Amino acid sequence: MRAMIRELTPYHVKNAEGYTLLDNNENFLNLLQDIDLNVIKQNVAINRYPSDNVDRLVAAYAAYVGLPAENVLAANGSDEWIALICQFALDPTDTMMVVSPDFSMYEKNGRLLGATVQSIALNEDFSLPLQTMLQEIEQWRPKCLFLSNPCNPTGRRYEVSDLDTLAIAMANVGGYFVVDEAYIEFAGGSYTEKAIRNENVIVLRTASKALGMAGLRLGFLIANRELINDILRIKPPYNVNQMSAVIGAAILSQPGLLRESLKRQKRQIEQLKVILEEFSSRHKKVQIYPSHTNFFLMETPDALDLYQFLNRHKIRVRAFGDGRLRHCLRISAGSETELTALKKSLEEWSLSACDRQAN
Ligand SMILES: Cc1ncc(COP(=O)(O)O)c(C=O)c1O
Repeated sequence: MRAMIRELTPYHVKNAEGYTLLDNNENFLNLLQDIDLNVIKQNVAINRYPSDNVDRLVAAYAAYVGLPAENVLAANGSDEWIALICQFALDPTDTMMVVSPDFSMYEKNGRLLGATVQSIALNEDFSLPLQTMLQEIEQWRPKCLFLSNPCNPTGRRYEVSDLDTLAIAMANVGGYFVVDEAYIEFAGGSYTEKAIRNENVIVLRTASKALGMAGLRLGFLIANRELINDILRIKPPYNVNQMSAVIGAAILSQPGLLRESLKRQKRQIEQLKVILEEFSSRHKKVQIYPSHTNFFLMETPDALDLYQFLNRHKIRVRAFGDGRLRHCLRISAGSETELTALKKSLEEWSLSACDRQAN
């Protein structure tokens, strides 16, 4: 094992059986129920490496985002794209830049390659510290800057004008600007048009969130043609499996189904907001941050206790060990049944907190 790998914490995926899952920002709808599964038997030759089926998937995704297919590549989730972009852009002597807090896989992959990771703290309200970032870009000349927009875990959406400023600053130092739009369907204002016009801008999209296909592991990279050709130098040729490609294309080619699914998710996000605001109105120290995603970040000094309480009630939310988010929980929108369970447990916790204060 390489020495630096000893510094990484193993990622154990928790068994989900019997839990209400509000921790991973997934779609609570399983769209497979709306797909004719004969499509798999008819189109998947498991004795062959994937080819045409992935082309069809890419074409379906390109149509969904309204861009030419030549600007789109598919991989095994955005996670794979993050790893590949780091391999593509970084030598061990290079620097990459991230903000903090942000999606942790950026930093992990940069460090894995031996690059120096320059992490810039977001402002207290989780807005971008633009001037600091510009100074640091000039000083460190990073080979890539990753940013999720809207941001996981804060839920905040950044100004397009700030993204433009960062794209120019990164171009000036010869680095790539990677905008990860995992939650863009909930926010609007995609940066894809800028990506296809700029040689140093990459947009990442995923099928795991609004599109409801986390189990298929499908992520998409959007960039201009020259950059796509360069990235093809390192992309594993058969990374997306046929089953995922065929099911993904079948779902993507049903715009009505996706529209209805997004509508239902947005309704549940509103419902979650009401539940959390009710909860925060009962507890002075609870703060709910504004969100343009399918989750909310809640800050409370009792985060750990609440996390453990919900976990005992078989409700899983996301807690964060330390740093700026140590008193925060991230809670995803769920189905009506799931949110009813959450509301009930939050009410029970409020009662138990009152009892504790009274004693
Ligand atoms: C910002 C962001 N990027 C990427 C991912 C990973 O996406 P995928 O499931 O496509 O690997 C996530 C998942 O939580 C995410 O929040």
